Amino acid sequence: MKMLENKWALVTGSSRGIGQQIAWGLAGRGCNIIVHGRERQNLDATLAGLKAYPVQTAIATGELASAAGVAQVIEQASAAPGPVDILYNNAAVQARSESILTIDQAEWNRVFQINVWALMALCQAFAPGMRARGYGRIINLTSGIADQPNLAVYSVSKAAVDKYSRDLAAEFKGENVLVNYLDPGWLQTDLGGKNAWFPVETVLPGALVPALLEDNGPTGRFFSAMDFKYLEK
Ligand SMILES: NC(=O)c1ccc[n+]([C@@H]2O[C@H](COP(=O)([O-])OP(=O)(O)OC[C@H]3O[C@@H](n4cnc5c(N)ncnc54)[C@H](OP(=O)(O)O)[C@@H]3O)[C@@H](O)[C@H]2O)c1
Repeated sequence: MKMLENKWALVTGSSRGIGQQIAWGLAGRGCNIIVHGRERQNLDATLAGLKAYPVQTAIATGELASAAGVAQVIEQASAAPGPVDILYNNAAVQARSESILTIDQAEWNRVFQINVWALMALCQAFAPGMRARGYGRIINLTSGIADQPNLAVYSVSKAAVDKYSRDLAAEFKGENVLVNYLDPGWLQTDLGGKNAWFPVETVLPGALVPALLEDNGPTGRFFSAMDFKYLEK
């Protein structure tokens, strides 16, 4: 089994939901984890689960809706015992459901700040170090959402993430900094809701695939966690 021992991963939004599963899944591969959420006390459950694995942990807190909060996340993650080798940009928010004809700019700005600008700032902060060390894995969470115009702010933010991921991958072509984007599937989380198709645990092992790629493996690609739903964890 491929392991990620001695690597450090920052998983944004790992206090609950999909990010929590990813944090635990990466720890199961021996990866050290920087857990992130807005409030320190919300990280206890994830940290308790991580105790089952022989890995180191660190904490980064910060509100991705503000530039100051993003800077705080970068500062705290940079203070972890090891450099960020794997950046899992998982945190995001859903948009307010509203007619595509009347959504105001404030809502576009709110969702884009968290889902797009914060993600890009984290890439800008940590990708240069990956380049210098000749190893990096960046995975950005996207969505398969389609034909829901009332949630256009969210779906367009994810389309921006897809395109940004491909452009960033091109920047690092041949440098072993692999940038990919992953659709987790429609999962039962606070964001996905109770009626979602699958339990959140089914995001593993698929969500680990882009983090486990061999050196100079695929980059700028789309991955679907649900493609691996029936694989052994
Ligand atoms: N669930 C689905 O069906 C589904 C489908 C397609 C794509 N996705 C994508 O998968 C990712 C995870 O979704 P999820 O369903 O696990 O969501 P979730 O259950 O709502 O969890 C969101 C995570 O992001 C953090 N977060 C939320 N707002 C934040 C903010 N303003 N600043 C910093 N952190 C913030 C939360 O931390 P705190 O609240 O503790 O701060 C939490 O850990 C997202 O990118 C989402 O778009 C989900």
